[in-house]
Amino acid sequence: MATIDMIGIVGAGTMGAGIAQTAAASGFSVRLIDATEAFVERGLNRIRLDLDAGVARGRVTAEQRDEIVARITGGTDYGLLAECHLVIEAVPETLAIKEPVLTGVSEVVSSDCVIATNTSSISITTLAGYVSNPQRFIGLHFFNPVPRMALVEIVTGNDTAAEVASQVLQVVERMGKTAVHAADKPGFIVNRVLIPMINEAVRALDDNVASAADIDTAMKLGAGHPMGPLALADLIGIDVVLAIMRVLEQELGASYAPASGLIAMVDAGTLGRKTGRGFFTYEEVRS
Ligand SMILES: NC(=O)c1ccc[n+]([C@@H]2O[C@H](COP(=O)([O-])OP(=O)(O)OC[C@H]3O[C@@H](n4cnc5c(N)ncnc54)[C@H](O)[C@@H]3O)[C@@H](O)[C@H]2O)c1
Repeated sequence: MATIDMIGIVGAGTMGAGIAQTAAASGFSVRLIDATEAFVERGLNRIRLDLDAGVARGRVTAEQRDEIVARITGGTDYGLLAECHLVIEAVPETLAIKEPVLTGVSEVVSSDCVIATNTSSISITTLAGYVSNPQRFIGLHFFNPVPRMALVEIVTGNDTAAEVASQVLQVVERMGKTAVHAADKPGFIVNRVLIPMINEAVRALDDNVASAADIDTAMKLGAGHPMGPLALADLIGIDVVLAIMRVLEQELGASYAPASGLIAMVDAGTLGRKTGRGFFTYEEVRS
């Protein structure tokens, strides 16, 4: 199998842009694909803004920023992925969107190109069924914001080849991240533990146990968490939290039912930072 030097990413949103930036900062050539030119540009712009902030804080030099940006080629044409050694899918968390994307990727890449998904909650074995050679399919679960979060969960499906797991481990390490290995079970490690905790914080809010601010202060100062669960839900996206709870409920049972407050917020379109309003309000909207 080829050494992984060029990485394709499908979906230039929150996670795809972060993965693209991290990969380019680690010296990989990157191809970043989205459904429209406007979405590609939005992803590239997000990367530029984050790097500009890095320059202002002295984390990277202006020269390094320019080199990182120059390693990323954006576009809407899947043909851009043809030379990639690894393609990571980071499109929204529904089978209806992921299936045609994975099939499309599988049609343009070489037969030994590793195909990975950044899914938070969908079975790797199920998604592997959408690509040819499912043994080259694997879960690479990055965390938000990708450039600053140190962890990647490597998730092997029933068919994933051991060699593919060691190839992606090298990529993760070259990105300066720490990898953990998780079985293909709902939520893997972090979301299996974290998302029900956020859900319980929303239930506590629904149940008038305390205000959103006090729930977050309690968990920060009483449990030593760097961020409160409700502010974290706003950062992740309330819709993403709800979608993961629905998968956990479906796979693991009724005790994982989403809090009614989560459902109401998604119905109202208050999705957290990306809409400027969630459990808290934000002046700067992050799309
Ligand atoms: N947001 C998080 O904190 C987080 C963390 C870990 C994993 N994830 C997972 O990462 C994946 C992406 O999540 P996100 O938060 O980045 O979503 P997002 O909505 O921010 O970005 C998704 C991107 O995919 C693009 N897209 C939609 N359909 C497409 C298509 N057919 N072809 C190409 N691009 C298409 C959208 O235009 C958008 O830019 C999901 O599977 C999610 O569960 C999210």
